[in-house]
Amino acid sequence: MDFPYYPINDFGPLMKGLVIGALGILHVFLAQFAIGGGMLMCYFQWLASSGRCAPARQFIDGFFKFLVLVSFILGAITGVGMWFTSIQISPRTIGMMVGDFHWVWAVEWTFFCLEIVAGYCFYRYGTRLDDAARMTLLVLYAVAAWGSLFWINGILSWQLTPGRWLETHSIWDGFFNPSFWPSLLYRTLVSMTIAALVACVVINAMPRFDRERRTILIHRAAHFLLPMIFMPVLGVWYLMSWPAESRAWVTGGSPAMSMFLAIGVGSSLLVGAYALFAIWWGKLYINGATATLLCALALAATAGGEFVREGARKPFTVRDVLYSNSILPGEIAQLRQVGSVSEDPFPLRDAADYPTQRLQLGAKVFRLQCSICHTMRGVNGLVELTGSWSDDQRRLMIAQLQRTKPFMPPFSGSAVELESLVQLIAWEAAGRPPGATDATLDAETLARIQNWLDEAGTLPASGHSQN
Ligand code: HEC
Repeated sequence: MDFPYYPINDFGPLMKGLVIGALGILHVFLAQFAIGGGMLMCYFQWLASSGRCAPARQFIDGFFKFLVLVSFILGAITGVGMWFTSIQISPRTIGMMVGDFHWVWAVEWTFFCLEIVAGYCFYRYGTRLDDAARMTLLVLYAVAAWGSLFWINGILSWQLTPGRWLETHSIWDGFFNPSFWPSLLYRTLVSMTIAALVACVVINAMPRFDRERRTILIHRAAHFLLPMIFMPVLGVWYLMSWPAESRAWVTGGSPAMSMFLAIGVGSSLLVGAYALFAIWWGKLYINGATATLLCALALAATAGGEFVREGARKPFTVRDVLYSNSILPGEIAQLRQVGSVSEDPFPLRDAADYPTQRLQLGAKVFRLQCSICHTMRGVNGLVELTGSWSDDQRRLMIAQLQRTKPFMPPFSGSAVELESLVQLIAWEAAGRPPGATDATLDAETLARIQNWLDEAGTLPASGHSQN
């Protein structure tokens, strides 16, 4: 069997998924601001050149231009950071995304280059150019920024809803998958919203504008909030494009996920309600503090939304194709026979901490199968989760992992490996007592574990998977 092992990094008490998640949320927020910022600058350039809004040009050439540039640089850096961390955590997923979609990535990259060039030219020479040239650069920038969203969105949404790709393996079936359009449109609206809110903060912070000009600019920027009225419809459409069990988890099935969905929806509703009532009907002025608060709500909404989207894929990183722990569904039956780590060539980073062979084996099993979603004693720590359980309870719950929680993959190793993992958890729970020895394993215990493993089978809780 040639199961591909990779050296997997460890981030101490921080769960690996959490490291990617936190970086991802920051990246998505910055990148979406850069996209919306490009569109907003086009709009203000049009207002300026058509004489509809006198201070519009000053606003673009002031702080806002700088901010779009910063967000787009930070967006690019955190984007590279995403690659950097995810290849240390989930190389097989990244390999699959690159392997199946390499031309899409290449196209995305050309859009990104265009975005850099257009953005930089505008930043550097914008003030010296005439209106037509300025508009050309801004439109190029905005189209390129939105274009990179278009291409990446195809790959990210494929991970959650691969759709017909599962049968055809055609790149376009994967790209234009069931959640492609709702996700793209929703993210476009989010980008516009973030840009409008940041613009309100910036307008308030620019000392050169008096109150009257600020009011004019803020009312213009607020136009970008109006499309938010489509968000509820798009959000529901997006959720409906998900597999039924993912939807069930985020709408009550998993308390944590439901809470994050509630945070996402709640924050968006607050922003939307404020935008509608205050700006459009009351024609109120948004001051700096309120605008900053609304931006914070938008960040909370992004965090909730991204957390839910990432979490809804569980137990897969590519739905029905690859489990979160980088094991293919079709590999499990054999890994149960030969052992999941018997050929893992990578040593434990801190092998000396584990006094016996058995505990080391347990640690390798944990590293391969569980550590993407669990730590031992940190975030989602196994010691805390199973603290009050007997060893036999631990054996049963782990042997039937996909029944214990439907968002975990089936256990993918031998009975000996499972027993080693249980002994590791017990040893950790006891505070790593010295003097552990490799006693022979009890044959009856192993037989019981094997029985439970056979009973649970190798299919995920949803009952279907590819290959
Ligand atoms: C795809 C991510 C993922 C993987 C892989 C995973 N788990 Fe979990 N596991 C979770 C989540 C999420 C929870 C829920 C935690 C909670 O309820 O707060 C959980 C809960 C648990 C629980 C507690 C169940 C209960 O009823 O309270 C145990 C025990 C557990 N996991 C063991 C493991 C072991 C052992 C492995 C590796 C063989 C593993 N998990 C692999 C995500 C995962």
